[in-house]
Amino acid sequence: MSNPDYALLRSQLAALIAGETDALANASNFVALLFNAMDDVNWLGIYVLRGDELVLGPFQGKPACVRIALGSGVCGTAAASNATQRVADVHAFPGHIVCDADSRSEIVVPLSVSGTLVGVLDIDSPTPDRFSAADQEGIELLCRAYCESLSASTSFI
Ligand code: SME
Repeated sequence: MSNPDYALLRSQLAALIAGETDALANASNFVALLFNAMDDVNWLGIYVLRGDELVLGPFQGKPACVRIALGSGVCGTAAASNATQRVADVHAFPGHIVCDADSRSEIVVPLSVSGTLVGVLDIDSPTPDRFSAADQEGIELLCRAYCESLSASTSFI
């Protein structure tokens, strides 16, 4: 398994969303680009913060749970703490929410626009300990670049 070239992905993402202000279209292309660039991933998508819960947004993979309370599972923990959760073994994570039974490891990165949490990016793998510190750094930079590219006047999905 090789790591994606995250710098290349950042430039591909910038090109994909350049000039397009529709947030749903841009988020959809963001998840499709990253899903197809990563080996050994069975689910990748965005949960959007709506009030005090996360709601399923654009994704690639099997149908998933639609609503996650802040503080629940890996996604809700990432959102509530505003900190990336890189989980080597999802079965060892208290309160992990099973959506795809194939998932063994997971990384969830908070998404913020202008300092405000707007959602999370969730990536699942069928392989234990799939996500390295280098993956975390690359994915966090990609998420930051994506969020910074959204104009202040464009709502997040
Ligand atoms: N496992 C996540 C739920 C979302 S699915 O993996 C798509 C969690 O514990 O928050």
